[in-house]
Amino acid sequence: MIREILISLGTRCAPAFRQMGYRYAAVACVGRAGRCARAWAPHQAKSREQITQALADVPAHAEAAAIFGSGPCLDLPMDLLLQRFRRLYLVDVAHPPAARRLARRNPAIRLVDRDLTGVAAALHDPGQEQPPTPDNDAFADEPGLGLVVSANLVSQLPLVPLRHLRKRWPASDMTTFARDIIQAHLDHRRRFNCPTLLIGDIERRIVTPDGRTHAIEDPLFGLSLPAGIVEWDWSVAPVGEMPGGWSIVNRVRAVRLDSDRH
Ligand SMILES: C[S@@+](CC[C@H](N)C(=O)[O-])C[C@H]1O[C@@H](n2cnc3c(N)ncnc32)[C@H](O)[C@@H]1O
Repeated sequence: MIREILISLGTRCAPAFRQMGYRYAAVACVGRAGRCARAWAPHQAKSREQITQALADVPAHAEAAAIFGSGPCLDLPMDLLLQRFRRLYLVDVAHPPAARRLARRNPAIRLVDRDLTGVAAALHDPGQEQPPTPDNDAFADEPGLGLVVSANLVSQLPLVPLRHLRKRWPASDMTTFARDIIQAHLDHRRRFNCPTLLIGDIERRIVTPDGRTHAIEDPLFGLSLPAGIVEWDWSVAPVGEMPGGWSIVNRVRAVRLDSDRH
């Protein structure tokens, strides 16, 4: 608990996003990453490996990379990224202490506070009269951009907005709204002319204490990611993390979304 309070105090998050619950969610994620470090390590290693492979296709003249959903940066090959790029943009609604420490030590790192759904500010605005439309053009005009990574972010994008939509416009179609957020994130790729890698959950498996699959949930609300380079299981809530011996396993896919590949 004390650890969570310290992480929360050290997390950079704009007041409006804080009030919406983004800091709370980011701190919960960092806390779980600490408790489940051993179970999460293979997933983080595979994520780093995919980003490392994408680095091989970065054009020679590129100077910058943008990482969407950077959070505590546990899934990033930070040394390689810093060797390769003069500007490394870490983009998130909340920057936990680990990201802030990295930025202090490395002048190439720029922390960018940004909502990547395009709906958060409007959902928070009391003057907003109807549900906002998701959209995202972050870094579309960034010169010298050579790599874009969506790092274990896509399934998280609808969660906070859905809570606010439910409160303010309860008659809305929640599934359509969530899907529109995810689709806007996938469409964002069209704005880039460089290797664009998405690593994200495609399935959530709820497992009973005796190891049987109890339910399979769809974190993408009915949308599918394009075929991927590779998939793996992420033991996101290993036995011991949830009450009664239950556990959760996410299926993760790494996908190249470069516009010239589709
Ligand atoms: C599962 S965590 C992954 C963090 C990081 N990639 C890692 O593995 O260390 C998801 C991240 O997405 C961020 N996030 C959630 N919604 C966001 C939004 N609308 N815009 C930008 N970042 C968001 C959270 O703050 C969190 O840092």
